[in-house]
Amino acid sequence: MDATIAVLAGDGIGPEVTQEAVRVLQVVADRFGHRFTFVDGIVGGRAIDETGEPLPEETLGLAVKADAILFGAVGGPKWDDPQAKVRPEQAILGLRKHLGLFANIRPVRVFPGLESASPLRPEIVRDVDLVFVRETTGGLYFGPREEGTERAYDTMLYTRPEVERVVRLAAEMARRRRGYLVSVDKANVLAASRLWRHVATEVVQREFPDVRFEHVLVDAMAMHLIRRPRDFDVIVTGNMFGDILTDEASVLPGSMGMLPSATLGEMKNRHGHPHGLYEPIHGSAPDIAGQGIANPLASILSAALLLRHSLGLEKEAQAVEQAVEHVLAQGLRTPDIAGVGENTRVVSTTEMGKAVAEAVG
Ligand code: IPM
Ligand code: MG
Repeated sequence: MDATIAVLAGDGIGPEVTQEAVRVLQVVADRFGHRFTFVDGIVGGRAIDETGEPLPEETLGLAVKADAILFGAVGGPKWDDPQAKVRPEQAILGLRKHLGLFANIRPVRVFPGLESASPLRPEIVRDVDLVFVRETTGGLYFGPREEGTERAYDTMLYTRPEVERVVRLAAEMARRRRGYLVSVDKANVLAASRLWRHVATEVVQREFPDVRFEHVLVDAMAMHLIRRPRDFDVIVTGNMFGDILTDEASVLPGSMGMLPSATLGEMKNRHGHPHGLYEPIHGSAPDIAGQGIANPLASILSAALLLRHSLGLEKEAQAVEQAVEHVLAQGLRTPDIAGVGENTRVVSTTEMGKAVAEAVG
C-alpha cells in the first residue's frame, strides 16, 4: 500500500519520540512491502515562533491531504502565558475541529511485568485492559463562551447527532472487544448530561442490544477507575469528563510514556479508512527534552493504532504491538520505567526505538 503520513512532531520531546515511531513505521513498510511517504509540518510553539500561529494554513493543508497524522506534542514554558491569545494547545483543538475528529480513543493496558510501575497495588492493576472513547469536538471545549475580567463562562452544549455518533463508535468497539460499554455523565445535575444519557440509551438499545450497557456518574467513575479498573471494557464520555478521566487512567500503567491515542472522525482517507490523528497522551515534557531519555513507546504504539485504524493494516499493527511487548519482556526500560520488573536495562529513546524496529523486522 502507498500511504502519506503527515508528521507533526511539535515541541519538547515531541520530535524525539516521533522520530522513533517513524523509524518503526519505515521498518513496517520494508518488511510488509508498503510505501509510506512522510511529510513534515510545523505545529505548536515552534509554529508560533516561525509564523505567529500554532496551526499554520500550510500544516493544516498537508494534514488534511495525508492519509493520517502522526502527532508528537506541543507546548512549553516559553509559550505558557495563560493570558496569551495564541497558545500551542490550540493546534490540537484546531486539528480536531477542522478535520471533524470527534472521537478520541485512549486504550489503557497494563503490560505484563510492568505492574509495579503503577503507584496502585499490583493486584488492582494487573490485566487492566480498557478503552476510553472521549468526545472531542463538542461540549465545554467548544460551546458558546464569554471571556472577561469580571465575568466569564463556558457552556456544555451537546446535540443529538454529536452524542449518537460517538456512542455508536464506542458501542461498535465494545462489540469487537468484551461487549461491555459504560457511559459516563453527570445527569443528576447537568441538562447536557441528561440529553447525553437519553440519546446514548436509545442508540444502544436500538442498534446494539447485544452490548451490556450501563451509565455511571462521573464522580463515581473517578473512584471506580482506581478501585476496580479491571471491571471496565469500553467507557464513552464527553469532552471535559474524558479529558480528566483519561489523565487519571494514565496512572494505572504507571507511566504516561506508554499510552497511545487515536482521534477519529467521519472523514475518510483515499483508502476508504477513517482519517485520524495519532498521538501519545503525554505532553511535550520540556523538563526532559533533548536529553534522549523520553519513552518513545507511546508514540510507537500510536503508530500501531495508525496502521490499524487509518490504513487497515491489522497484521502490521499487531507486529508493532508484539515488538513492544518483546522488548519490554527482554528488560529494556527507558528511565521513566527503570527498574520495573526483573533483569532490566536502562536504554535511551533511540535505543528503545531501534530495539522495537529490529523486533518488527
Ligand atoms: C488532551 C490535552 C488537550 C485537551 C489540551 C492540550 C488541549 O489535555 O489531549 O487531553 O484538553 O484535550
Ligand atoms: Mg488532557
